[in-house]
Amino acid sequence: MREDLHIAIVGATGAVGVEMLKTLEKRNFPAAKITPLASARSAGKTLPFRGKDLTVQELTPESFEGVDIALFSAGGGTSSEFAPAAVEAGAVVVDNSSAFRMDDSVPLVVPEINAAAVAENSGIIANPNCSTIVTVMALYPLHRAFGVKRIFASTYQAVSGSGAMGIVELERQVGEIAAGQSPTRDVYPHQIAFNVLPHVDVFLDDGYTKEEMKMVHESRKIMGLPEFRASVTCVRVPVYRAHSVAVSAEFERTVSVEAAREAIIAAPGIDLNDEVANNGYPLPLELAGRDNCQVGRIRKDCAFDNGLSFWVAGDQLLKGAALNAVQIAEEVAKL
Ligand code: A2P
Repeated sequence: MREDLHIAIVGATGAVGVEMLKTLEKRNFPAAKITPLASARSAGKTLPFRGKDLTVQELTPESFEGVDIALFSAGGGTSSEFAPAAVEAGAVVVDNSSAFRMDDSVPLVVPEINAAAVAENSGIIANPNCSTIVTVMALYPLHRAFGVKRIFASTYQAVSGSGAMGIVELERQVGEIAAGQSPTRDVYPHQIAFNVLPHVDVFLDDGYTKEEMKMVHESRKIMGLPEFRASVTCVRVPVYRAHSVAVSAEFERTVSVEAAREAIIAAPGIDLNDEVANNGYPLPLELAGRDNCQVGRIRKDCAFDNGLSFWVAGDQLLKGAALNAVQIAEEVAKL
């Protein structure tokens, strides 16, 4: 692995960007230099890294001179505008937005599932949608055991998935309500405090949201299963951090709960937490800040012949975004 890499983080001041920096430090990533980039508003701010302060610079097309790997998490518009300049300057882009995910020339990678695809990059590698990552971390080991055909799923997505402003909105509304005031809204179309919203991302003509269809298209690409089907309802919940997903999956082969548990235990990056006798199951509060996802409530699905239902949760800022991006960068460093 190369030890002298120059890493740029685009969106370094955002909810995911801050976690990218922390993850690089925690995993002792072989970086000789880190350049944090954000909008002009943040230029001059400092971010801590390995006991020193890094100064945030304004993102410009010239920001990528000498950069080896650029981690982008500043929204799709910024990725579309600046990723080509980064590639032109010789950097490999790991992009957390949805801008390039379904592009045939762009690998879409969850390293525990398809790390080898990193080698096929032509300058850009995409980091999948956060709920999709959490879901396939559980689904892929079960697919290897039983052969998945289709799933029905509902997500329970934390407000930090909407960026730092999502956290601010929930905190503010809780404070306003506690003070007897009417909650004010900036980010979501309805009050999120003490509520759940069956609405993540924009609505499409067929009634699903864009977020719901990401689960279909991205799961197919990551798992290499063009026939895989998924009907998903994405729900925003008043949780600060960590997404949960309730999944009912139908498989080709006969399933058993015991074999499903063994498949999860043997899989990297995901832990089994399934002791219902002791009220043991994954909770977003406990998973916030943790690298590994967790699965529980594994049971034979009573509406499918070869079906399993389960509950999976994971920190979407880490495995759903920053950690997965840094793991991809580690694969790039090995090339
Ligand atoms: P800034 O903090 O300067 O606005 P989040 O997802 O938490 O909302 O964070 C988004 C991140 O993307 C922030 O770091 C933000 O920088 C950055 N960002 C948003 N728009 C731009 C832009 N046009 N150019 C550069 N960085 C941007």
